[in-house]
Amino acid sequence: MDRFDYTALPARIVFGPGTLERTADEVHRLGRSRVLLLAGPDLAAHGERLEKVLGPLLAGRFDGAAMHTPVEVTGRAIEELRRVDADCVVAVGGGSTTGLAKALAARTGVDQVILPTTYAGSEVTPVLGETSDGVKTTRSDPAILPETVIYDVELSAGLPQAIAVTSAANAMAHAIEALYSPQANPIIDGMALDAVELLADGLRALANGVDDLDVRSRLLRGAWLAGTCLGSVGMGLHHKLCHTLGGSFDLPHSPTHAVVLPHAMAYNAAAVPEVMDRIAVRLHTTDAPAASYDLVAAAGGPTSLDAIGMPADELDRAAELATATPYPNPAPVTRDGVRALLDDAQHGRRPASDPTLTASVGRLTGQVIRSFDAGDRPRLAGLARDLVRRLHGFALDNDLTQQEWQAGIDFLTRAGHITTDTRQEFILLSDTLGLSSVVDVLTNSRTPDGTSSAVLGPFYVEGPPELPQGADLSAGLPGVPLWADVTVTDPDGRPLPEAVVDVWQANQDGFYDVQLPDLDSPVLRGRLRTDGDGRLRFRSILPSEYPIPSDGPVGDLLTATGRHMFRAPHLHFLIAAPGHRELITQLFVKGGKYLDSDAVFGVKEDLVVDFAPRSGPMPDGTEVGGEWRELSFTFRVQPIQ
Ligand code: BEZ
Ligand code: FE
Repeated sequence: MDRFDYTALPARIVFGPGTLERTADEVHRLGRSRVLLLAGPDLAAHGERLEKVLGPLLAGRFDGAAMHTPVEVTGRAIEELRRVDADCVVAVGGGSTTGLAKALAARTGVDQVILPTTYAGSEVTPVLGETSDGVKTTRSDPAILPETVIYDVELSAGLPQAIAVTSAANAMAHAIEALYSPQANPIIDGMALDAVELLADGLRALANGVDDLDVRSRLLRGAWLAGTCLGSVGMGLHHKLCHTLGGSFDLPHSPTHAVVLPHAMAYNAAAVPEVMDRIAVRLHTTDAPAASYDLVAAAGGPTSLDAIGMPADELDRAAELATATPYPNPAPVTRDGVRALLDDAQHGRRPASDPTLTASVGRLTGQVIRSFDAGDRPRLAGLARDLVRRLHGFALDNDLTQQEWQAGIDFLTRAGHITTDTRQEFILLSDTLGLSSVVDVLTNSRTPDGTSSAVLGPFYVEGPPELPQGADLSAGLPGVPLWADVTVTDPDGRPLPEAVVDVWQANQDGFYDVQLPDLDSPVLRGRLRTDGDGRLRFRSILPSEYPIPSDGPVGDLLTATGRHMFRAPHLHFLIAAPGHRELITQLFVKGGKYLDSDAVFGVKEDLVVDFAPRSGPMPDGTEVGGEWRELSFTFRVQPIQ
């Protein structure tokens, strides 16, 4: 039975690229009119932009924030706040600037609007840490929580990659410790797990050499969620250790988090195996502590305390200090245990967990993943690593047996044996698993103003017969006659002459010509060209539904899993207009069978069109003596940028 306490933190969040421009609106929204602007060290340029955005709201500026929020600095900032009679602070920067804003709010009650440039997360916590005469104290008070946080992704994108990695690891630590906190609750758990996934995604992208606004946006969202966890529930051994190492040995804040996190997780893993499993799922792995080590290592972050300045002969004292006062943590915090943990962290050992099945598979996975580190093709290595991670996870999660694995190998072997130049079983496999359509969406659906694409399928043949305008593709084959009148234009509707249009389809019984061994020349396929108006007319027959090739392993798989084999009726088009991107697509017959259960998941709404019933002679004068169908469609293709 669920039983928990949860207090929501009342912060307003404004998230997205370019949101800095909304700062003045946010100050107005709080009913404030005199702003003291705090710009963090090295962030003068952001300060200048904010001065412009704030305009008449700007009452003064203070750029002197310092690490650990020394009270002397706060004192000077308060004088400035009073001198300019400010009723609001706007702070742009990392943890130090946020800390100063909070210190001012704690003493004077001013409202705060924070624009974070790192993944510290402190902007969404009601906690203030300050130093006085070198001694750090912390307090928590709802009045300290900033009223508004503006997460402008473009600001955080300026964070150099090395700092982004350690800062993201720091955020990851907030989320992970929240999951085994004594105050843990399902609301915060959800946020924490999302944060873990977003941050891991972002770190993986950085490791693979991908760093764009999308990646930074995921990292920033993760950091925000993780910060919210930090502000809502208590933290454990990891945070205590980092606090000790930073406070007493002057180690840098976020690199210390990056190094210690995997070891603190390994320390607690046996005490909270279900938490580690939930984290592992979000990391697409089976060994959460080792995976968190790998994430930081792959992204080029520090993995040993030694590398970030911890003297080896101070480890005993560090263990002493970190265990001097008791605090909640899932695994008992012992001096010897912490000393051993620190030793591992000092030497950057990858956490070795207990000898369970999961752990040994996890170690194996790690070894294989690291085996891709040596090459100089980061994208390929990144894909290989992720594939291995998911394949190993698949085997482990399903407790895959030797026989099942062998059946899989046999399946692939059969797929290989049956594949020829005209029969591609691997494409069929990809199609029936929906993977071809996923890749198609990723590749071709980023711009909404063109005609949708659809899978090529296995029956396209290079260099189809050239046919003139008005040709009959069916060469007299039986079926309901079809008149097609299509136009090719650019996205603005301008017609594109000289577009090469390949068309292919199945016959009335659902077979393509390449499937009929008795045919000695191509039918129901051809290459045509648009005229000066971008227009193309041809005759054919109405396509009907048909089964995909089912005499191979893919057919067996569909039968064994109770799936049908049918494709909804369609005509294929491959359109190449000069200066425009090639469009591979299909037009589906409205009202046709299997439109909502197409065996290869290829149907898209804008591709389902009327093949309208008609009677009388066709537009070219052909007498058909009965009903025929008319297809009229305009393809919009994208210019090559
Ligand atoms: C086709 O439409 O030709 C097709 C596409 C995918 C798999 C099988 C057939
Ligand atoms: Fe087809």
